Amino acid sequence: MMKLAGYSLAVSFAPISSNVVKSNKRFTVGISHRNRCSYRLFSTHAQKHQLHEKPGVVARYHLPPWFSVAPMMDWTDHHYRTLARLISKHAWLYTEMLAAETIVHQKDNLDRFLAYSPDQHPIVLQIGGSNIENLAKATELANAYCYDEINLNCGCPSPKVAGHGCFGVSLMLNPKFVAEAMSAIAASTNVPVSVKCRIGVDDHDSYNELCDFIYQVSSLSPTKHFIIHSRKALLNGISPAENRSIPPLKYEYFYGLLRDFPDLRFTINGGITSVDEVSAAREAGAHGVMVGRAAYNKFWDMLTLQFMVHQAVILHDVRSLKDI
Ligand SMILES: Cc1cc2nc3c(=O)[nH]c(=O)nc-3n(C[C@H](O)[C@H](O)[C@H](O)COP(=O)(O)O)c2cc1C
Repeated sequence: MMKLAGYSLAVSFAPISSNVVKSNKRFTVGISHRNRCSYRLFSTHAQKHQLHEKPGVVARYHLPPWFSVAPMMDWTDHHYRTLARLISKHAWLYTEMLAAETIVHQKDNLDRFLAYSPDQHPIVLQIGGSNIENLAKATELANAYCYDEINLNCGCPSPKVAGHGCFGVSLMLNPKFVAEAMSAIAASTNVPVSVKCRIGVDDHDSYNELCDFIYQVSSLSPTKHFIIHSRKALLNGISPAENRSIPPLKYEYFYGLLRDFPDLRFTINGGITSVDEVSAAREAGAHGVMVGRAAYNKFWDMLTLQFMVHQAVILHDVRSLKDI
């Protein structure tokens, strides 16, 4: 694509983070949606009743997703998220990936897959799939559960997902399809939508190809937020765990996107294991930082109050410490 041919990889560290705090459309969209929402939560009837009345109030206190805990199959389950929320008030919590087909085929049993404790807001539902009708239907069914955002998985390299299922990271090879899928998802919900992807797949790993993916998806669909796991995926038979360590991290791709798509929002992910690294990424301009394994293995270090205070000071967005 001609428009993308000129992208280069010089890293821009111009800080642009403060804009994110001020222009957060997520709040208004989320609140109006939730006010219409019939809450279906993983809780007692009494809790349901109480929460039904206050979703707008909950939403007002969400900070933008400048720090989030990554979706992790079998790890970021209901129990983990409950514990994480006890420690961190504002971290955005992602669910494990849920296949659209599961939601659609289990539509009489949705609480089992979609219900969560109301304390877990802000919470993002990650779905996976490659059937547009099912992705749209799954999103529609999830509306009753009032997630704060719907995210499409375009990064999973598991052969079960990227191979047979042809979804996960395989989708990166077909940006037009992803744009169509994201349009269908967005049309089925009132909350923001986002894509989580890698920086490439196998030999499709140039910066220009990544730009082409981002450009097509963002211009052909309402997607404005991308979470970039900053390593490519190898579909040559290595395990998902190896795919999280063997391909090298290329943060320069991430910072290139920040520079070249100033109207979009990007969250950096991959290999961030300390509070200092989170702060450094924010100071370098990342709109958001997503932490996966370290938020599980070094749970306390990554999610403590001290961390939140530290980040909030960087954001200049905390009116008083009781908001943290
Ligand atoms: C056990 C495990 C399960 C994961 N499951 C998912 C998933 O369901 N969806 C997804 O997009 N990424 C998944 N990932 C990838 C993470 O979200 C994240 O992108 C990756 O671990 C890199 O971030 P990190 O270096 O901070 O861990 C998983 C990672 C782990 C360790």
